[in-house]
Amino acid sequence: MPAADQPTRHLDAAERSDDASGVLADRFGRRLRDLRISVIDRCNFRCDYCMPLETYGEDYSFLDPDHYLSFEEITRLVRLFARRGVEKIRITGGEPLLRPNLEELIRDIAQVEGIREIALTTNGYLLADHAEALADAGLHRVTVSLDALDPELFRKMNGVGKGPEPVLEGIVAADRAGLTPIKVNTVVRRGVNDESVLPLVRHFRGTGRIVRFIEYMDVGTRNGWDRAEVVPSAELKDRIDAEFPIEPLEANYPGEVANRYAFRDGEGEIGFVSSVTNPFCGNCTRARLSTEGMLYTCLFAEDGTDFRSLLRDGAADEAILDRLGSVWGDRDDRYSEERGRAADQDADDRVEMYKIGG
Ligand code: GTP
Ligand code: 5AD
Ligand code: SF4
Ligand code: SF4
Repeated sequence: MPAADQPTRHLDAAERSDDASGVLADRFGRRLRDLRISVIDRCNFRCDYCMPLETYGEDYSFLDPDHYLSFEEITRLVRLFARRGVEKIRITGGEPLLRPNLEELIRDIAQVEGIREIALTTNGYLLADHAEALADAGLHRVTVSLDALDPELFRKMNGVGKGPEPVLEGIVAADRAGLTPIKVNTVVRRGVNDESVLPLVRHFRGTGRIVRFIEYMDVGTRNGWDRAEVVPSAELKDRIDAEFPIEPLEANYPGEVANRYAFRDGEGEIGFVSSVTNPFCGNCTRARLSTEGMLYTCLFAEDGTDFRSLLRDGAADEAILDRLGSVWGDRDDRYSEERGRAADQDADDRVEMYKIGG
């Protein structure tokens, strides 16, 4: 597999053929290991970089629940995808805790052979009520999005005026339920919340929670991305290092999205997701399944493959596996490595962030 900092290289047909165990490799030799599953396209927040209130007001029509993949359908796909190499599942949304009875899905997926880890990305607002049931069902850990601690800024950024307290309580409840290590995701935008970075570091240092600062990305079509708002991780590292000296840590697994750093005084770790200044497409093993069953092979994809129709048309397991094999085998996505280079990268058709959960 190519190293994260090397440009992605095409493999020839012989190099990329499936190996005997059924594991898939794409045109760059990247395996399929992770499946990110969006279980609902709705959210109780309206972050302006994801679901701006002007567009997603009361009249906006989200998917009809009949169009959601059912838990049985999702679990069947997970079982099949696990036969082709998927071992890690991340449940996302919209806001996944809005999907009724989510614990039942976790329980089903936890029983699938080959699935070694199930994680969930949430805005945390409803987490306190769900943490214990999710852990009992077999969820391993949660990642909570939190862009600011300051109540006024937090209320403004989530677009619906909700304060941060329930999110912080959700984190405590998740800790109590053993959904650890808990990661806290902060998308940093210059001039919006970059002053929140040090307060977040101070707040979570020494608590076992791992804050990861994410470079603001041009996902979807609605966020009016402006590169000037991206705060390069290198700059944040320097700012943090000046107050709390940090040193790099080894990745937990090849292709880990975040670069890890430890506080030199032993008070824990932080991470940086640098997909703008240091893309990691070379190691990208992720596929994304939308709420309605479209499979996307890149966060920035324009087109997906409709697995719900296959399921509802009565496709046999082998037909579903064949479709997955051809989709992954044809994959040559590396958007973040190409960002800004290709002439045809206009943002009109890209899948929206809230449909695939990041
Ligand atoms: P763990 O390492 O398992 O904790 O999770 P993760 O960091 O892969 O997932 P998480 O949902 O916390 O993602 C962190 C940030 O990285 C989010 O902003 C995601 O949108 C972004 N991200 C995750 N995967 C990719 C990817 O494949 N490409 C890009 N460009 N960004 C990604
Ligand atoms: N750039 C970077 N990260 C984003 N997220 C949502 N939109 C963006 C963006 N434009 C984050 C969310 C969540 C994770 C899944 O993706 O805040 O933490
Ligand atoms: Fe905000 Fe996440 Fe909801 Fe999007 S899905 S509006 S980023 S909380
Ligand atoms: Fe993977 Fe696409 Fe992200 Fe690159 S931009 S790491 S190919 S999801």
